[in-house]
Amino acid sequence: MKILKVGLLGFGQIGSALYTMLQSKNSYFKNELGVRFEITRIAVLNPKKKRTVKIPKHLLAKNAVEIIDDPAIDVIVELVGGTRDARSFVLKALRSGKHVVTANKALLAEHGDEIFHAAQRLNRWICFESSVGGGIPVMKSLREGLVANRIDSIYAIINGTSNYILSEMTEKGTDFREALAEAQKEGYAEADPTLDIEGVDAAHKLAILVRFAFGGKVKFKDIYCEGISRIRKEDIDFAEEFGYRVKLLAIAKASQDGIEARVQPTLLPEAHILANVTGAYNAVFLRGDEVGNVLLYGRGAGPKPTASAVLADLMDIAQRESVRSENSGMLMRGIRKSLRIKSISSILSRYYLRFHVVDKPGVLAHISRVLGKHRISISDVIQRERNLRSVVPLILLTHDAHEKDVRNAIREIDRQAIVRGKSQVIRIEEGAKTS
Ligand code: HSE
Repeated sequence: MKILKVGLLGFGQIGSALYTMLQSKNSYFKNELGVRFEITRIAVLNPKKKRTVKIPKHLLAKNAVEIIDDPAIDVIVELVGGTRDARSFVLKALRSGKHVVTANKALLAEHGDEIFHAAQRLNRWICFESSVGGGIPVMKSLREGLVANRIDSIYAIINGTSNYILSEMTEKGTDFREALAEAQKEGYAEADPTLDIEGVDAAHKLAILVRFAFGGKVKFKDIYCEGISRIRKEDIDFAEEFGYRVKLLAIAKASQDGIEARVQPTLLPEAHILANVTGAYNAVFLRGDEVGNVLLYGRGAGPKPTASAVLADLMDIAQRESVRSENSGMLMRGIRKSLRIKSISSILSRYYLRFHVVDKPGVLAHISRVLGKHRISISDVIQRERNLRSVVPLILLTHDAHEKDVRNAIREIDRQAIVRGKSQVIRIEEGAKTS
């Protein structure tokens, strides 16, 4: 019987779900899988706080370092979030000979080099399945099930909150704020929800995916990131008229001269498999050179799915400890060389452009002339009925164009008196082929 002694740092929604899961399933793990997990200590900010989950008082400690230093503990589960304290706790835990399980994508995206190198050097396991895609076994699939493959592309919905908001706006016509409040109530959103709606949470997860799918170090700041806070209901409606849905996608594609890695609102054909991933669900759609397309789908946020992935990591550690295998393979793949992430201005894409324009003769001709001057060709147009007293929306879809040209053209168009407000630019992806 393998006994794994676990120290928990943080006891919020995920920690509570993990504790409850262990309470109810430990005999199954023990009897059928030969492992017993013991939550030995739990570090909390306020030991006196009233909690929904009942825990024996002696387990609670105020001082995380005391738990990290406890020689009886094998694994530290870091669930404190943020990057400052979490970074020092994780490094300290590795140095004091503990394995680490963390759900902290911000930490791994921003300090991954330091943390993965430390784990490698100290020959300790660092497991982070729950950091990407909640309960979906994404890292395990990359590490084990897809090991035979070179990954060519990843298209992923990896922020449950944004997907929930866009789905509510699409299906029920709900207002942005109302949908966000609901996502927060369900426990999907980050403590600071701007990380969700500005695409930062998805970019953190993409940084981890890129590191281990394409094999190399990634600078977080090289990942282009744009969230959904500027998406209006009218954009969702116009996209629908053209046969598209708006999704927040994390995209990574390998090419000869580097890797495209970006998070952006995207128009996806409504029949595309990812266009039909709704609510807080996540999906990672990737293409391997041997296997072809793979779709990993499931609950990407929420306490129980996340705790389910934390538990999978604990089980992995227990099993690896039993066979005493070395900490090499995947970590080495993510830290040996540096990946070249291409600048956003060099990408080629189709675009949805929405302008609010004064309704008078020559406006459409003028805008298309500016686009033409910047080598941008139009594939489709919607111009709403006349409204002589105010502005009207003018929607243009383009053929493939260079991002640099689109930015220059929009800057020029937005300066014209016929255009009111800031124009909307959403990239269209047809390339995420499902066949
Ligand atoms: N805030 C995240 C989301 C939670 O909405 O997907 C899981 O990382």
